[in-house]
Amino acid sequence: MDDTNAVIDILGRRLRLAVIGGGPGSFIGAMHRTAARIDDRYELVAGSLSSDPDRSRAAGEAIGLAPDRAYAGGTELLDSEAARDDGADVVAVMTPNDTHHEYATGALQRGFDVICDKPMTNTLDEALDVLATVRSTGLVYCLTHNYTGYPLVRQASAMVADGQLGEIRLVQVEYVQSGKADENDPDPAGEVPWRYDPVRGGPSLVMGDIGTHAHNLLRFITGLEVAEVAAEVGHIAPNRLVDDYAGAMLRLSNGARGSFWVTQAAAGVENSLWIRVSGTKGSLEWLQEVPQLLHFKPLVGPVELRTPNGPGTYPLAARASRIVAGHPEGFHEGFATTYSDAAEAIACRRAGKEPDPLTMHFPNAIDGVMGVKFIEAAMASSAANGAWTSAEIDLGD
Ligand SMILES: NC(=O)c1ccc[n+]([C@@H]2O[C@H](COP(=O)([O-])OP(=O)(O)OC[C@H]3O[C@@H](n4cnc5c(N)ncnc54)[C@H](O)[C@@H]3O)[C@@H](O)[C@H]2O)c1
Repeated sequence: MDDTNAVIDILGRRLRLAVIGGGPGSFIGAMHRTAARIDDRYELVAGSLSSDPDRSRAAGEAIGLAPDRAYAGGTELLDSEAARDDGADVVAVMTPNDTHHEYATGALQRGFDVICDKPMTNTLDEALDVLATVRSTGLVYCLTHNYTGYPLVRQASAMVADGQLGEIRLVQVEYVQSGKADENDPDPAGEVPWRYDPVRGGPSLVMGDIGTHAHNLLRFITGLEVAEVAAEVGHIAPNRLVDDYAGAMLRLSNGARGSFWVTQAAAGVENSLWIRVSGTKGSLEWLQEVPQLLHFKPLVGPVELRTPNGPGTYPLAARASRIVAGHPEGFHEGFATTYSDAAEAIACRRAGKEPDPLTMHFPNAIDGVMGVKFIEAAMASSAANGAWTSAEIDLGD
């Protein structure tokens, strides 16, 4: 990200951002608000941070919002901000999954560009409805599959697109965590958290929480779709009522094969999102816990390393770095890249300008639909004892 502010260049001001969700105790709420500020493309002007009206207002004021823009609820925020001359331009949604559809479509219908956390929605019908609303309004929709904002994930994507790996033959992706390794999680004596309620959290906890990230990473780096999946989706912690594990074999759209392995119940593992992509000319490997190293293993020649802003960096990757080579960048910066690219697209849309194509690599509504379709296909396969099941869908134009 260079140090000129593309949004101020285009619009003469920052984008005005409103947030729905992300109140006290939410990991991702502060992440969204920080990501929006890192490159100075947005100013936070309004929020509804809790489903409880009093807590929502109090939490908004506690992060410095003006009292009249610390709203009691998301719908009140959308109505009030749409009515103001200085109202928000963009609404970011980071609420529990069952409300993504309502707030995203509600925002789009009122003319706001939208940034929404994953999964896009809990059902395929809702996801298709968001896509249709994005298309009919012509507004920008950005889905925060934030790992696509890491410099070396972009480098991997650019190297594949440039043919450095040759024809892709095999992809292995895994996302392994330990947050649900405790067999007594959630606390049996406590209230059921929203994630553990399929109506609120969606049909599969592990797939909605991290499976969509792994699926999106595979698609982003390879440019391929998952054509068919043979999956087992279930739980490895005994007696758990929700999914904490999924394993699958994949057939990709070019005939390549893949494996997919996700769990939140691997004791002690922290945030092991890992991918290996193998082509006819070599392989790439990247691990989120060491995000500043991308291994390139050519068929002929020694193993090579790529680093953010180091030698051989493609423009797509260089754009995602803010600092000279050798200084670590990570989760916050990757998230910020997603926000800042969306900001440039939004500013260009508002000014009637064509965006720089390098801006347009943030995950969008089609990526969201593909993620929800993949969850549906993996679950259908699992219910059919791992039968190969199509994950394709016709999205029209
Ligand atoms: N991109 C990522 O890496 C990532 C990481 C974690 C969570 N998430 C996503 O973020 C979303 C929230 O997850 P979380 O872990 O922060 O959940 P959480 O339960 O920790 O926090 C949810 C927050 O939203 C608030 N909230 C609930 N309903 C609301 C409503 N109707 N209006 C306004 N605020 C409301 C709650 O008060 C709470 O502060 C989920 O969709 C999840 O999938 C994404």
